[in-house]
Amino acid sequence: MTVIVAATANAHKFEEYRALLGSQDVELHSLLDYPGFTPSEETGKTFKENASQKALEACNYTDRPTFADDSGLEITALDNAPGIYSARYGKDDADRIGRVLRELEGKSDRSARFVCVIAIAINGEVIETFEGVMEGTIIDAPRGENGFGYDPIFVPKGETRTFAEMSSEEKNKISHRARALQKALDFIEDEMSVLDDEF
Ligand code: IMP
Repeated sequence: MTVIVAATANAHKFEEYRALLGSQDVELHSLLDYPGFTPSEETGKTFKENASQKALEACNYTDRPTFADDSGLEITALDNAPGIYSARYGKDDADRIGRVLRELEGKSDRSARFVCVIAIAINGEVIETFEGVMEGTIIDAPRGENGFGYDPIFVPKGETRTFAEMSSEEKNKISHRARALQKALDFIEDEMSVLDDEF
């Protein structure tokens, strides 16, 4: 069976990917399967640059077809912050959410979007990147216990519940990560015979 590496050590992200890829005929590894590998600091200025850097480094280390994502929350009234700095916007999830809510105090435009860019690297080369976006709004106070990160303050378009109030199955149908992954899967489907031959 083809081994594919999801270049993340984030257990939440990995579980989302495992669920999303459940029906595919692949064995999914995470970076937790390669404890000797330490990714370097993110230096890119865009989601695409960061995803590409992560995928390439992990591909070179593992010698396997690898995909990596870079994702984050863009808030219109904050000039699209925290964006690529979403994971670095505070010391933990509660701190990051608190900062966003403080910065949005008094602002009427609550529109925001989650963005995810997935990069695929094979044989030491990034071969393609895919973007998924989920539009939504930021509410005044956190609601819900599921998910991770900014999920408790994000209500996706067409919904009344936050991502954190939805089940993982519901979130996985519409999330930015699912949308980017679906585009990647459509691409991989065409390339899968190449992967089977080579790996
Ligand atoms: P990355 O690991 O550099 O891609 O960091 C992405 C950060 O964006 C995460 O640590 C979260 O704070 C935030 N983020 C990305 N995707 C999601 C999501 O699906 N729900 C909530 N927060 C997310």
